[in-house]
Amino acid sequence: MLVPVLFIFLVQSATAQNYRLNDSEYARMPPLYHWDGYEECFDEPDAMYCYGEIVLVSDEPNEMLTMTQEFSKNFRHYNHTLLRHFYCMKKTCSEFYNVSESEVDLRWSFEACSNKTIYNKYKLKTKLTDVLDCSKRDRDQPIDNLDIFVGVVCILIIMANLVGSLCDCYLDKGKERGVLKILYHFSISRNWKKFVAPAGEGRDPRFNALKGIHGIRAITICSVIVTHACFRFGVAIVNPKMMEEFFENIFYTMFMSGSLVMQTFFVVSSFLLVYNWLIDSETLPLSWRMLPQQVILRWLRLTPSYALIIGLTVTWFSRLAPGGPIWAKAIYYEKRDCRHDWWKHILYVNNYLDRSSCMLQTWYLAADTQLYIFGVIIFLLCRTNLTRKVVLSFFFVVGIIVPMLHTYYEELEGVLISTPEVALNLFSGHRTFDKVYSRAHTNLPGCIIGMALGYIIYNWQKAGGDPKRFQKYRYFYWCSFLAGCMVLSSSYILFYEGPPQPAYVHMLYAGLQKPAFALVIATIIAGVVIQFEGIYRAVLEWRPFVFIARLSYSAYLIHIPFIRTQIASIRNLQRVVIIDVILQNMTTLLSILIAAFFFCMLVEMPSVNLLKHVFKKPHHEPQDVKTDKETKNSEDKNKIEDASQTKADDGTIVIKM
Ligand SMILES: *[C@@H]1O[C@H](CO)[C@@H](O)[C@H](O)[C@H]1NC(C)=O
Ligand SMILES: *[C@@H]1O[C@H](CO)[C@@H](O)[C@H](O)[C@H]1NC(C)=O
Ligand SMILES: *[C@@H]1O[C@H](CO)[C@@H](O)[C@H](O)[C@H]1NC(C)=O
Ligand SMILES: *[C@@H]1O[C@H](CO)[C@@H](O)[C@H](O)[C@H]1NC(C)=O
Repeated sequence: MLVPVLFIFLVQSATAQNYRLNDSEYARMPPLYHWDGYEECFDEPDAMYCYGEIVLVSDEPNEMLTMTQEFSKNFRHYNHTLLRHFYCMKKTCSEFYNVSESEVDLRWSFEACSNKTIYNKYKLKTKLTDVLDCSKRDRDQPIDNLDIFVGVVCILIIMANLVGSLCDCYLDKGKERGVLKILYHFSISRNWKKFVAPAGEGRDPRFNALKGIHGIRAITICSVIVTHACFRFGVAIVNPKMMEEFFENIFYTMFMSGSLVMQTFFVVSSFLLVYNWLIDSETLPLSWRMLPQQVILRWLRLTPSYALIIGLTVTWFSRLAPGGPIWAKAIYYEKRDCRHDWWKHILYVNNYLDRSSCMLQTWYLAADTQLYIFGVIIFLLCRTNLTRKVVLSFFFVVGIIVPMLHTYYEELEGVLISTPEVALNLFSGHRTFDKVYSRAHTNLPGCIIGMALGYIIYNWQKAGGDPKRFQKYRYFYWCSFLAGCMVLSSSYILFYEGPPQPAYVHMLYAGLQKPAFALVIATIIAGVVIQFEGIYRAVLEWRPFVFIARLSYSAYLIHIPFIRTQIASIRNLQRVVIIDVILQNMTTLLSILIAAFFFCMLVEMPSVNLLKHVFKKPHHEPQDVKTDKETKNSEDKNKIEDASQTKADDGTIVIKM
């Protein structure tokens, strides 16, 4: 009850000042885009097409500029003092442009040209920022050694798939020897069978209860993809006013602050870590050897697919979109940075090293890996209920306070919200994203809540807890979806029209919003695992979700290259219409899932199979050559790997995503 009241109060108290413009005032501002036709430009020989970002300036006070600056101060508006001009130099800027120009001259002629276009109409001048990208028709992309190397790797993988599948079909199944045995791991028909196998068939009935988690993961990955797919509608549009109006609506704010949804993955993965390991530890003694073992297993599990995507990003993906007005911004800068920074990704430290626009979305893989190591250490360290309570509470509080301090001292925003301007830049160089959103230590609360949930549910089941006892709370439980929506849309307060909120409000949001959302997710998971009601379970255990959940790692890896290619292919300003956005996003989602399916079949599953192959010793191996101790050790090891592999099939080991 308190929350809605507080909510309404804050919204009402924030209406002091009005930054709204009526239509005629809005139309007085220079349009955000000037866009010359791209294809037509190249009808002439030696044509040059330039994209530059320019800032409005004025030597004397200018009423319209002041109005524009005031209007742009609001987070929910585009920065209307920063214009994006796309010139066909020979047409629009013919009087300043000289075919034989150097780069410095190009900057000069672009600025002179934009001065002229803007001055004629608005009596304002302009200054070119650092962003200027000019190109002739075809982007120069010579094929280098790296391209050839990655190309060869891809061809080898596809050949392995073909040969493996053919052998699997036509050769005698009994004779699996040597190389063939390895090739079989690439067999599409085998992998297909694994892909469609029913979920949750574990050694322990308790694993069956985890089925609903597939649904949670599937819904989360789909919403992540759809949110990212929206970026392309922020990039080059004729009607920015409409985008800005989205933000007036509390309903849309929910989507715009969708970045919180990633907390779900942190909760799920740490919950599974603790819950699965507790069950395993009934049959298997814990030892510190498991720390390096599990970290290496996890690294091997994630890295092959990831490395292939990095390899393709620095080579062939940039050729999917053959040049366009925003090609450099959408694709090229990422490719350039990734050629430097790939090792940060392979070591999973990219979320702590800023100033790179290489694969920003993979902050999650790094943060989750770091939190996984943290989780394993805590798990192995705290063996009694008391130490668990103390240590988890301690880190929970740390996890709340640290983001607050970051937000205060580094003057950040309290939440990461994809405002129009942020979406345009695809988060690169966004300070809140770099300093708070993508770090591991600022995402601790989600991890702690997941771990605590694992302990609580395990202990409750062990003590013979009775699901029926919870039935009287089911109405509260059904409200949890609503509560999640409320936590998401509460970001509205920070961005409401009016004066900026004071720093302490931002601090509170930075500290409390993530744990609040994580708690809601934990509640939903608890209900699904305890199985005391039918509605949420029926939805989340829907069978197709299992398949989507199995695709989640592949889909997460490939969805951004896909969307970047879409953005790079934009040739015209587009008019955003809601129904188009919905339909096109659905199409994008579907195509990404299909592409992810192929990636999963051809690359991800074979790599997991190989991992199993290498680590799993055949059980019928003669053991008499080993000493007793060795035998015991290797059996232990087999068990651990068996356990983690079984889970790997369900996609719940080292939660893939
Ligand atoms: C918009 O606002 C301006 C200044 O406040 C006013 O002069 C103008 O008449 C308004 N236009 C409309 C269409 O309301
Ligand atoms: C708009 O962009 C310009 C140039 O990057 C920047 O100087 C200015 O502070 C921005 N305005 C707002 C309100 O963010
Ligand atoms: C173009 O460049 C050439 C050589 O640099 C120069 O002679 C000529 O005057 C320039 N033309 C214009 C329009 O600036
Ligand atoms: C454009 O206008 C700005 C601001 O007055 C000025 O600094 C700049 O030199 C002008 N650029 C050109 C090429 O005239």
